[in-house]
Amino acid sequence: MKAKILSCTILWATFFFLASASDPSLLQDFCIAVNDLNVTEFINGKFCKDSKLATGDDFFFTGLNVPRNTSNAFGSTATIVSVDIFPALNTLGISFARIDFAPNGLNPPHMHPRASEVFIVLEGTLYGGFVTSNPDNRLIAKILHPGDVFVFPAGLIHFQLNVGNTNAVVYAAFGSQNPGRTDIPKALFGSTPPMFTGVLTKAFQVDTNIINDLQAPYRMDNSFEVYKNIINDLQAPFKMDNYD
Ligand SMILES: *[C@@H]1O[C@H](CO)[C@@H](O)[C@H](O)[C@H]1NC(C)=O
Ligand SMILES: *[C@@H]1O[C@H](CO)[C@@H](O)[C@H](O)[C@H]1NC(C)=O
Repeated sequence: MKAKILSCTILWATFFFLASASDPSLLQDFCIAVNDLNVTEFINGKFCKDSKLATGDDFFFTGLNVPRNTSNAFGSTATIVSVDIFPALNTLGISFARIDFAPNGLNPPHMHPRASEVFIVLEGTLYGGFVTSNPDNRLIAKILHPGDVFVFPAGLIHFQLNVGNTNAVVYAAFGSQNPGRTDIPKALFGSTPPMFTGVLTKAFQVDTNIINDLQAPYRMDNSFEVYKNIINDLQAPFKMDNYD
């Protein structure tokens, strides 16, 4: 009887171990394996300082009270404090941000590939929302006032627009030391090198002129000029087919 209970326990322990064993989630966009340690960037995280040498200063960050400059095309600035800026966050699975909005400022549709976000309004009035994944693509949105908290689930496209007459200030927290951020307009129309026009005309079911207009704001970037000839060459065969 005792032996039976013991073997049962071992069986369950083994099962639990197998069921809970999995690869750790990525802490960056990708991590290509190399053998030469001298040329590594990450080992899915950072190297650790000798813990005996840690002081209060290592766990301290300041300056989030300072309003950020929102004089840009979107009228908003997100200051994300991830592990790259604040080393104490390494391995803790958290990070945070201050987001400033001018009146009418927009935090453009974007997503965080590795984290959900808790969004806490300190000042102003915002219209914030996200879109669920396929097939529903349902927009879930709400008007938010100071003291209101909204949650943006990991990986879903979300945005916030300042709909008040004053500046708006938000504090946000993320469930990753390196949540990452992909701005949808820039990723599609301002990538480096630019995406082949035929991909975009087909994806959006519009003609080349509209794609050109959508790419225009990002052309100031010199990298666009560098790649322009390459793209022309790549596009040439398709131009003969009137593909675009
Ligand atoms: C790594 O760098 C150290 C110090 O610069 C050097 O001595 C060593 O040979 C390097 N290792 C490899 C594999 O290149
Ligand atoms: C804010 O940024 C704009 C554009 O870069 C710049 O012209 C302006 O001087 C900045 N304002 C302050 C207060 O730094």
